[in-house]
Amino acid sequence: MTMTDTTLPVTIKQIQSEAELFQALAIREVVFIEEQHVPEGIERDTEDARAYHVLAFQGGHAVGTGRLVLLAQAPAGKEGLWAQVGRMAVLKAHRKAHVGSRLLHSLEEEARRRGVNGVMLHAQLYALEFYRKHGYEPVGAVFEEAGIPHLEMLKGL
Ligand SMILES: CC(C)(COP(=O)(O)OP(=O)(O)OC[C@H]1O[C@@H](n2cnc3c(N)ncnc32)[C@H](O)[C@@H]1OP(=O)(O)O)[C@@H](O)C(=O)NCCC(=O)NCCS
Repeated sequence: MTMTDTTLPVTIKQIQSEAELFQALAIREVVFIEEQHVPEGIERDTEDARAYHVLAFQGGHAVGTGRLVLLAQAPAGKEGLWAQVGRMAVLKAHRKAHVGSRLLHSLEEEARRRGVNGVMLHAQLYALEFYRKHGYEPVGAVFEEAGIPHLEMLKGL
């Protein structure tokens, strides 16, 4: 994957073609499968076909991605329509430059457009502060997913 000037402006785009979905999957492969050693069979799942996906572009290159999936059921103790944010991934060289925040905002905007009442996510413990800064609150106990400790986090919209 090409390195990009990290000072260039970032644009967020909804994925609209199979080619763009492949760009997102390529970023997820680098971040989750290569960097975090998540098994490929877990990283790719059936939700990809129905999810709303976004890509972050910088200098013409895709540098980050994330997805939103509508949930069939609200989390315990909550009501209404909820969605799950997931597969948030920014290439290492582009982190801590607000690309992840821009991706999360655009997924939340889409959730609002769809009349969603709240967003749930499974946060890796090391990323807890990132989500806390965006108004997500941890609920319940730590659990393992793909061999990585996670906490469920919720945010009402
Ligand atoms: C988590 C991730 C998406 C964050 O993306 P990012 O582009 O680095 O995040 P941002 O630059 O928008 O961060 C926003 C704020 O959160 C902070 N932050 C980001 N990651 C953080 C971390 N791991 N620990 C503590 N604070 C963090 C930033 O410093 C920034 O703070 P500021 O607003 O005070 O400057 C990115 O680190 C990543 O892709 N990680 C690997 C994949 C992964 O684990 N995804 C999450 C699965 S739950």
